[in-house]
Amino acid sequence: MNRDDFPILNINKDLIYLDNGATTLKPKVLLESTNDYYSKYTANAHRGDYDNSLIVDTKYEHARELVRDLIGAKDSREIIFTSGCTDSLNKIIFGYFRHYLKEGDEVLLTKSEHASNILPWFELADEIKCQIKYIPLTSDLKVTIDNVKHSITPKTKVISIAHVTNVAGDIRPIKEITKLAHEHDILVVVDGAQSVPHMPVDVTDLDIDFLAFSAHKMCGPTGVGVLYGKEKFLNNMRPIIFGGGMNASFDHLGYREYVDLPHLFEAGTPNIAGVIAFGEVIKYLKRIGMDKIHKYELELKKYAISKLKQVPNIIIYSENNESGIITFNIKDIFAQDLAIYLNKYKICVRAGNHCAKMLKDELKIKNTCRISLYFYNTKEEIDYLVEVLSNPKISTEII
Ligand SMILES: Cc1ncc(COP(=O)(O)O)c(C=O)c1O
Repeated sequence: MNRDDFPILNINKDLIYLDNGATTLKPKVLLESTNDYYSKYTANAHRGDYDNSLIVDTKYEHARELVRDLIGAKDSREIIFTSGCTDSLNKIIFGYFRHYLKEGDEVLLTKSEHASNILPWFELADEIKCQIKYIPLTSDLKVTIDNVKHSITPKTKVISIAHVTNVAGDIRPIKEITKLAHEHDILVVVDGAQSVPHMPVDVTDLDIDFLAFSAHKMCGPTGVGVLYGKEKFLNNMRPIIFGGGMNASFDHLGYREYVDLPHLFEAGTPNIAGVIAFGEVIKYLKRIGMDKIHKYELELKKYAISKLKQVPNIIIYSENNESGIITFNIKDIFAQDLAIYLNKYKICVRAGNHCAKMLKDELKIKNTCRISLYFYNTKEEIDYLVEVLSNPKISTEII
C-alpha cells in the first residue's frame, strides 16, 4: 500500500526494507513538513512574540492534539513530547517511580522487554532498593493473564511491559492486565514502541497509566517521542531535565516556580520541526487507517509465514503472533552472516539479540534474524526474500 508516498522506494527501486521494527521509511508528508519549517517559518517554540513564532506554537500544539486524538487520551496536557520511547520511559521511571516506590516494593517486568524498559528499572532498583521480578513467559514466549496473576504479591506496585515485543512480536493482553493490576492498586506502564505504529491503541479504553512510544517507528522523524500519563499521575511526576521553557520564574536565592503540564516536562528547545512533521504523519496514518494498517500487516505476515516455511532449514520462532514481526534462523548459519548475505540482494533485516538480551535465556538461542513488516511491504518482496533464502548455494555464498 501507498508505496509512491515513500521517495526512498522510488530512488532505490530494488530496495527491500524489512527492518521496520528498528525504524520505518519516511513519507513525503514528513519531508515536506520538515522542509517547510526550515525554509518558511523557522522560530523557537513558546518563546517569541512575532508571526513566525505564533505559527510554530500553533502547529506544535496542534501536533500534541493530534497525538492525543491518535491514542484516545482525555486531555492534551497528558501528552509530553520527548526525544523517543527510551527518553519517555526514563522520564516515567526516574520522574515518577523514583518517588513513588519504596524499598522492597516490587516491579514486574518480563524477560522479553527491550533494554529501554529494563535498564532504567535496574538503575532505580540499585538506587532505592526496589525489587525487580519477572512475569514468567509461556513456551511460545507469551504473557498470560494467569502468569501475571501468579506473579503479583502484596508488594507489587508497578507492571512495566511492552504492548508488542520487538523479538517475539507477541501482543500482550493489556486491557486484562490493567484491570487486574488496578484491582490490586498496581500501576501499569506500557512500552508502545512496537504497537502504536501498527494498530489502534486507545489509552482510555485500555486504561493505561503511562505509555511511551517513538515517532520514528511510525513514519515520523527520529528524535521525537511521546510520553502519555494520566493527568493525576503526571501531576505527581517530577521533571528530570531542568532549564528554559519549564520555569515561570526563579531568583538568585534558589527560589523557582515551574510551569504546568505539559511544558513542565519539555525543558529546552525541542525537536520543533520533528514534532510538527510528526503531526502531519499522524494525519497521514489516520487517512490510511490504523485498523487497515494492522489488518494488512497480518495478512502479509500470514503470507510470509506460509512462504518462509518452504525455505530449507529455516527455524521460525514467532509464527503464532498477531504482529508483523517474524523472527527466524537458518540452521547452522550465524544470524549476522545471514543478514549480511541478504544485504547483497538489497534486503534489509535485523540480526542479533535486538536489545532484548535476556530473551536468549528463554529462547535458548543468542541471535536471530528479524523481519518486521509495515504497510508498504508487499507479497512480491516476500517472494523475493524467500527465493534468496532458498538459494541452494546459500552456505557457500555466506562463507
Ligand atoms: C519494544 C521497544 N521498546 C523500546 C524501544 C526503544 O525505542 P527508541 O530507540 O526509539 O527510544 C524499541 C526500539 O527498538 C523497542 O522495540
